[in-house]
Amino acid sequence: MNSLSGFEILDAASSRGQRAVPCIDVAGGNPDIVDAVCRRLTASDVCAFLSSTPASIDSYLGMEHFRDSIELARRRHGVCVAPHLDHADDPAAIDRALAVGVRSVMFDGSALPLADNIAVTRSVVERAHAVGASVEAELGAIGGKEDPGEASIAENVRPDEATRFLREARPDLFAPAIGTVHGRRGGEASIDWTLVDRLVADRGDTPLVLHGTTGLPAEDVHRLIDLGFRKVNYATMIRDAYVAGLARALEGRTDLPRPQEVLASARTAVAEAVDRILQLVTVR
Ligand code: 13P
Repeated sequence: MNSLSGFEILDAASSRGQRAVPCIDVAGGNPDIVDAVCRRLTASDVCAFLSSTPASIDSYLGMEHFRDSIELARRRHGVCVAPHLDHADDPAAIDRALAVGVRSVMFDGSALPLADNIAVTRSVVERAHAVGASVEAELGAIGGKEDPGEASIAENVRPDEATRFLREARPDLFAPAIGTVHGRRGGEASIDWTLVDRLVADRGDTPLVLHGTTGLPAEDVHRLIDLGFRKVNYATMIRDAYVAGLARALEGRTDLPRPQEVLASARTAVAEAVDRILQLVTVR
């Protein structure tokens, strides 16, 4: 069973007149998160990527479950969503995703020297295109931690390297490190706007991807979307909402509530976070 590709999601979003496409982390295909997200997307008629990292998927219920949970919700809600494998730094994880029909993947070669990042990205793009899948690729190193235990090195992309990377690796979507940080919940952003202007001028037709969006001020999100960032990633905001929703249902209780009560509270918290994301990403 093949899922929608990144190409199909971007096209469907364009034909709906969507400003940008949210990419929402669903913690390996947690059914309560997937359901809450899809209900809000359906209500707003918005297309989205539903993502997870290989570490989240493997420490939960595996790649097939990740795909199935999203495909089930797609059919149930008639919603325009695709599973997206986020930050795969090992091409073997991409091959596992492609083998079960995931058609939107990200190869993250940011820890590799430029020439190696180009070579591995290019080979991933060729294998993905052979089955109709789209590939996002990262250059520079987006700071912060996406998974526990990950190293956190931040290094903004160099414009000359970005031009070479786009020309030689030819990814379908491009995630340049511009100063945003994963897992950040507030504080000052340090986006390099001169760098952003240069990247926007040099990127050709390749859509740009914004990582580390949780906690970014609304005006920065709007400005980046206006400049051409097309896919906008949120993980921390959703994870925090889910766990806070669970905690809220348990707060001050001396008895143990029924699972349905606790999970309903988590779904409500996720739905509220999704509404905030849709307001930021799709409304101007
Ligand atoms: P946040 O941690 O800021 O939500 O960013 C998530 C992300 O970019 C996933 O790739």
